[in-house]
Amino acid sequence: MEKIDWGKLPFGYFKTDYNVRCYYKDGKWGEIEVSSSEYINIHIAATCLHYGQECFEGMKVFRGKDGKIRVFRWEKNAKRMQRSCHGIMMAEPPVELFKEMMIKVIKLNKNHIPLPGLGASLYLRPLLIGSGAQVGIKPANEYLFVIFVGPVGPYFKEGFNPVDVQIVKDYDRTAPQGTGHIKVGGNYAASLRPAERAKQEGFSTVLFLDSKENKYIDEAGPANFFGIKGNTYITPDSSTILLSITNMSLRTLAEDMNMKVEKRPVHIDELAEFDEVGACGTAAVISPIKKIVDRETGKVYEYCKDGKAGPISTKLYNTLKGIQEGEIEDKHGWNMIIE
Ligand SMILES: Cc1ncc(COP(=O)(O)O)c(C=O)c1O
Repeated sequence: MEKIDWGKLPFGYFKTDYNVRCYYKDGKWGEIEVSSSEYINIHIAATCLHYGQECFEGMKVFRGKDGKIRVFRWEKNAKRMQRSCHGIMMAEPPVELFKEMMIKVIKLNKNHIPLPGLGASLYLRPLLIGSGAQVGIKPANEYLFVIFVGPVGPYFKEGFNPVDVQIVKDYDRTAPQGTGHIKVGGNYAASLRPAERAKQEGFSTVLFLDSKENKYIDEAGPANFFGIKGNTYITPDSSTILLSITNMSLRTLAEDMNMKVEKRPVHIDELAEFDEVGACGTAAVISPIKKIVDRETGKVYEYCKDGKAGPISTKLYNTLKGIQEGEIEDKHGWNMIIE
């Protein structure tokens, strides 16, 4: 294996030794297969290519200073993948199959799990696609479930430094009764154009609003949004938001810190009332936000006046990262130790 500079890894694709695969055929899942190919051989009429029968997950594995390998709240990802499959009529992989494939792929790629203390981790990408052929608009009869992995560095080049985000009103990532609550490819395709435009205009990501009224905060790009007001942690509630496992965990940690937690619709006017705001998700844990600009009205909301993340976001970030990396007691039992 080539020598990897663990401290300089980008958040991107990285070829590793193996991936694991399992096919669903004739109404049942087959044996787990190990592959060292980065490619899949796929039918030209596969439903994932034509009708978007595709969903994925994203999770991280950490090597602690104690040498242990930990995976964070994997059952939540396994169950979310089942919900995604249910939402677009794909075969749902049993939680046990998910677990077995996950452990196998982590162990097979052990030498790609970054060293501790450098902000890097092994990213796991479970992917499920409709592989069976259909020409009429129908769900496939065959599915492929793959898990591939790769070492990654921080999602934003800024790391835990505050970023600027842009409110967009002329694009929606999903419809009110659509697929926003599940992790299917179409939502991400719909978000590419506004996200790229925001980057060109100098922002790290976009803040989507609810697609019915364009008034309430929805997702912060590929992450959930939260705000801190006094001693309260507030996060939007909407039918189109993906249930973020990071956000779920931060809410529990906020409660542990004797904070009040509110999950409710958040009107954009409320942005002026927050002491701290951030985006949260597996990739970055928390990305503190220093400026939000409404692209349509030009209105600017500013936070982190000293250029640094706020004290509560910092504490939440350090606590969650500490638990994931085995530095802080895992009193909620969120980690599974692989070995
Ligand atoms: C649209 C969207 N929202 C939120 C999240 C954060 O979810 P999690 O904390 O489970 O990674 C993600 C990333 O998975 C996402 O893609």
